[in-house]
Amino acid sequence: MSKKNKTQNHQVIVIENTKSIAELPFSKEILELIKNDVKSNSDVFEINELNVLTFVVLVSKKQDYASKEKVRQTGAKITARLNTLKAESVLISAFTKNDNALLLVEGMALSNYQFLKYFSNKKEKANSLQNIFVKEDNISSAKTEELWITIEANNIARDLVNEPVSYLNAPKFSEEIEHLGKEAGFNVEVLDQLKIESLKMGGLLSINQGSIDVCTFNILEYKAPKAKNKKPIVLVGKGVVYDTGGLSLKPTANSMDIMKCDMGGAATVVAAMYAIAKAKLNVHIVGLIPATDNRPGGNAVAPGDVVKMYDGTTVEVMNTDAEGRKILADALTYAKKYKPELVIDFATLTGSAVRAIGTYASVMMGTADDETFEQIAHSGYETHERMVQFPFYEDYAEEIKSPIADLKNIGSAEGGAITAGKFLEHFTDYPWIHVDIAGPAWANASKGYITKGGTGVGVRLLFDFIKNNY
Ligand code: BES
Ligand code: ZN
Ligand code: ZN
Repeated sequence: MSKKNKTQNHQVIVIENTKSIAELPFSKEILELIKNDVKSNSDVFEINELNVLTFVVLVSKKQDYASKEKVRQTGAKITARLNTLKAESVLISAFTKNDNALLLVEGMALSNYQFLKYFSNKKEKANSLQNIFVKEDNISSAKTEELWITIEANNIARDLVNEPVSYLNAPKFSEEIEHLGKEAGFNVEVLDQLKIESLKMGGLLSINQGSIDVCTFNILEYKAPKAKNKKPIVLVGKGVVYDTGGLSLKPTANSMDIMKCDMGGAATVVAAMYAIAKAKLNVHIVGLIPATDNRPGGNAVAPGDVVKMYDGTTVEVMNTDAEGRKILADALTYAKKYKPELVIDFATLTGSAVRAIGTYASVMMGTADDETFEQIAHSGYETHERMVQFPFYEDYAEEIKSPIADLKNIGSAEGGAITAGKFLEHFTDYPWIHVDIAGPAWANASKGYITKGGTGVGVRLLFDFIKNNY
């Protein structure tokens, strides 16, 4: 039997500088201990009085990106302690006005995520911590509200990625999107197989040929009555609900194990739209999600086939595992009709991006202006969903010329993330950024507030970017 802590007055007190320590409501001895222990930013001191925990954390107001991240990580550590001690709730308060206390809350809440749906003994597995309360006298209530929304959205993305394809096939994914649209307040239109066929979306249809499930094309739209942008921002997400590689089958040992994550880009877009709509940001946003699995069924597209895309471009398929770019191409073509101000696509697109920079950041490239890239990079640091811009020289496009069609779907062995980007560029005629999240979309192990499995990377980034620039 575990001794449950029923007295739920655990708390975290955020202080801004060591001078405040003297004013905290503790005995002289304890104050002395805190003073000696808490010296640098985000240091934490734990007081355990008859199993009632108080954490004192130093969080200064002005901070660089690295220090801000340290505060989130401290939050994750506190959550771990609270769960170890079977605490059910905790109250966070700031000793003086300090919105950076929310970074601590962010790390605490994000690290408490669990995906328990498929366990028989959910209750036993569940973290004890159920409630994180924020005392809002010194912390902005509007910012707190927004934080809860982005965390909820992040968890939605994680859930979607963690769902196996046995549940989340393309039509089910569309149902989930419709449900989320109703909940958050954005419109959803789902184009079905027949409609997709009548539109001749050859990229999406060719990938779906080897599947026994139908594909879908999902159109999400959120338009605030006072939207600041005249032309919409379009977000495109790769919705490959499972990637076997198709006939160019992935080697089954290890390389296919996590391929339910191949709709990670789509999950990011859906969840970001969810957050933006729920927070009622004054923007006009459209989300486009082509969804299918990629399988080697009897009718599967074969290497050597030529496929006619939605915009009429012919593509020689040299590797059926380079499927994401083909379904995205049709969505990028569809985006043209909105005459968008900016298009950003999110995709678990290439192993090449992961080999280049690992899982610590996403790779971005494209045709948007420098200022937009800088804004995205800035949001990347702000949310610690870091973004690295790759070169985008015309030379790379040479590699995807085909001897028998307009394009082929793979380049050479080197620079594969960029040739994939060049393939996509062919289908754009607007300012555009391509984000390859193949590295950070999935975590092989939990680390701090990043939990094992789907990470929902890009949700907090997109929210920050849209909120601060539109
Ligand atoms: N879904 C994969 C990319 C991927 C790899 C996502 C690792 C997440 C983790 C993509 O469809 C793919 O298979 N890309 C190939 C392209 C190649 C055949 C040109 C790759 O990167 O190996
Ligand atoms: Zn693939
Ligand atoms: Zn893929």
